Amino acid sequence: MKKILIVGSGGQIGTELVKKLRATYGNQNVVASDLRPLTGEIVENGPFERIDSTQIMQIVDVVKRYNIDTIYNLAAILSATAEKNPMLGWNVGIGSLVNCLETARIFNCAVFTPSSIGAFGASTPHDNTPQDTIQRPNTIYGVTKVTGELLSDYYFTRFGVDTRSVRFPGLISNLTLPGGGTTDYAVEIYYAAVKGEKFICPISKGTYMDMMYMPDALDAMVDIMEADPTKLVHRNSFNVTAMTTPSRSTIRTSRWSTSSTRSVRPSPTAGRTRWTTAAPAPSGAGTRSMTSTR
Ligand SMILES: NC(=O)c1ccc[n+]([C@@H]2O[C@H](COP(=O)([O-])OP(=O)(O)OC[C@H]3O[C@@H](n4cnc5c(N)ncnc54)[C@H](O)[C@@H]3O)[C@@H](O)[C@H]2O)c1
Repeated sequence: MKKILIVGSGGQIGTELVKKLRATYGNQNVVASDLRPLTGEIVENGPFERIDSTQIMQIVDVVKRYNIDTIYNLAAILSATAEKNPMLGWNVGIGSLVNCLETARIFNCAVFTPSSIGAFGASTPHDNTPQDTIQRPNTIYGVTKVTGELLSDYYFTRFGVDTRSVRFPGLISNLTLPGGGTTDYAVEIYYAAVKGEKFICPISKGTYMDMMYMPDALDAMVDIMEADPTKLVHRNSFNVTAMTTPSRSTIRTSRWSTSSTRSVRPSPTAGRTRWTTAAPAPSGAGTRSMTSTR
């Protein structure tokens, strides 16, 4: 039986991941945590602990008390916000990761930390982006993600820590608003559409952005954490992809949503999560290919 700690549970991914993992592994086996005091279902349905993940002893204390064997490390400052305060972006992104890795080394835990397409850069091949490729980002967020991938590799090869990760594109969801990333507009567009408000898309016509629907992102996380560790050929992070949206089709989708009471879903071109050729092929994974990181 897994005993799971989620660090940074109150954000866009965490609020949905807590629900999914509690439904799968049992409410009492999934400890939610965040720097902020949270309210509602997340604290009512199962254990919740206040953890500042830049303070290692706060993580260690909870791991010991609950006998944790798996850590999902979601604490970070997202790209647009980090660019306004680069040192905060570095201290939270890397501080949290190093503390989770050190705790995992001492208490023998598996660690999942999401990377991002922000770990690439202008010189990365945009189409069919290879798994191992040029990673020269020019944002502090991207720098933390590349560093995080290298640290995850290092802790696996040097100490045998069971590190796992995927490189997420922008995530589209409707439970919790995104936390200040460059793809937030893709979520805000749907909120505006549902309210019947006009939305001016901040990206120029013809710009392509990689996106994924949150349920597919959650599946990707659980699939990689359930995969046989001996089959994992990468410990930094796997490319994972779903759809590439040109700005114009996103706008069309928003028009479609306003005239409907059905739940908001991304463009009809969205498909199942697709894994790259180097991925561990979890059962049920769809077509293996990779779209661009435009
Ligand atoms: N959402 C996306 O589109 C996306 C895409 C690619 C990668 N990611 C990555 O996934 C992870 C989670 O992203 P998210 O969208 O849920 O972020 P978010 O900003 O919505 O949530 C982050 C959470 O971390 C918490 N936090 C901040 N500092 C903390 C600290 N010192 N200690 C404990 N908690 C702290 C915040 O209170 C917040 O609840 C991040 O590593 C992010 O880089 C997200």
